[in-house]
Amino acid sequence: EKGMYPHYMLKEIEEQPNVVRKILQAYENEKGELAIDAEILQAVNYADRLYIIAAGTSYHAGLVGKYYFEKITGIPVEVHISSEFGYNMPLLSKKPLFLFITQSGETADSRQVLVKTKALGYPTITVTNVAGSTLSREADYTLLLHAGPEIAVASTKAYTAQVAVLALFAYVAAKDSGKTVDFDLKKELGIVANAIQTLVDSKEEMEKIAHEFLEVSRNAFYIGRNLDFYVSLEGALKLKEISYIQAEGFAGGELKHGTIALIEEGTPVFSLVTQKAVSLNIRGNVKEVVARGANPCILSMEGMEEEGDRYVLPKVHPYLTPLVAIIPLQLISYYAALQRDCDVDKPRNLAKSVTVE
Ligand code: F6R
Repeated sequence: EKGMYPHYMLKEIEEQPNVVRKILQAYENEKGELAIDAEILQAVNYADRLYIIAAGTSYHAGLVGKYYFEKITGIPVEVHISSEFGYNMPLLSKKPLFLFITQSGETADSRQVLVKTKALGYPTITVTNVAGSTLSREADYTLLLHAGPEIAVASTKAYTAQVAVLALFAYVAAKDSGKTVDFDLKKELGIVANAIQTLVDSKEEMEKIAHEFLEVSRNAFYIGRNLDFYVSLEGALKLKEISYIQAEGFAGGELKHGTIALIEEGTPVFSLVTQKAVSLNIRGNVKEVVARGANPCILSMEGMEEEGDRYVLPKVHPYLTPLVAIIPLQLISYYAALQRDCDVDKPRNLAKSVTVE
């Protein structure tokens, strides 16, 4: 029930601090350490490459997941859009492990890949929010998201749950294989939960941003580098699907290779600055669009902020910034949709689970 909330989407956005805490509890062993089923860890240790298969928002979470497995666990990862992979399969490594990321566990595009990879005899894991769903039943192993039912068509808390579970999975797999990991994920995810709460508590500010930047715009761009690029893709998708404003997410450096032609006087450009190593580069990209008339909305991380930034995100571990950077983008999309009298929970042309290929 959405109770006192005007929309499920807002309720689900606000549930996100607890979703992160719930995941920490669900994946804790008797000793209070983060843990994952030993058979699943064995499958990861045996594999020479991970293939992440997903669609839409889950694909965007998969991109972040690739980063985690490559950086923390040290295993090569490919991320594929399920509707492409099944019909144009890349050359596979010798010992592939397939990881299906699907909130509903029912997405037909992802299921057809599962059916094909199983027929080839490869091991499969489904990361899903729905125990007993088709992809969960059909895969060898399941990791649950523990996000609670997601009713709004636009995915919010399932995305953060996917990113958190993938971070946890990569972290536990790294430790299991004897790699040294120089941070305490349990502690860092606790900090993330509090940071998300701070952002949710500042939702009036996001409403103002939606008003300032998206009241009359026909389009909007989202830019970032590294992890911020992946969050830009997801931020743009959220805005498109519920407000119908044309939006695109880009790698900061890529805009100038063509799309910058679309920048006009006042075009909103949401720019994420959470990654220290590329913060100068992304700020350079912001200058490029501003020189063409763009209206930049810079969201930077505490410690990296500069004068003129529109919002400063509470500081979290650099690997975990997607979990906080997405929150204002979800809220901005929500308020932009309200501003346009859109049906926030049930956007036109969309269904919660897409069971046709
Ligand atoms: C976006 C959205 C969709 C889904 C996609 C995959 O807000 O909800 O893009 O992410 O249809 O669905 P699942 O994760 O259920 O496989």
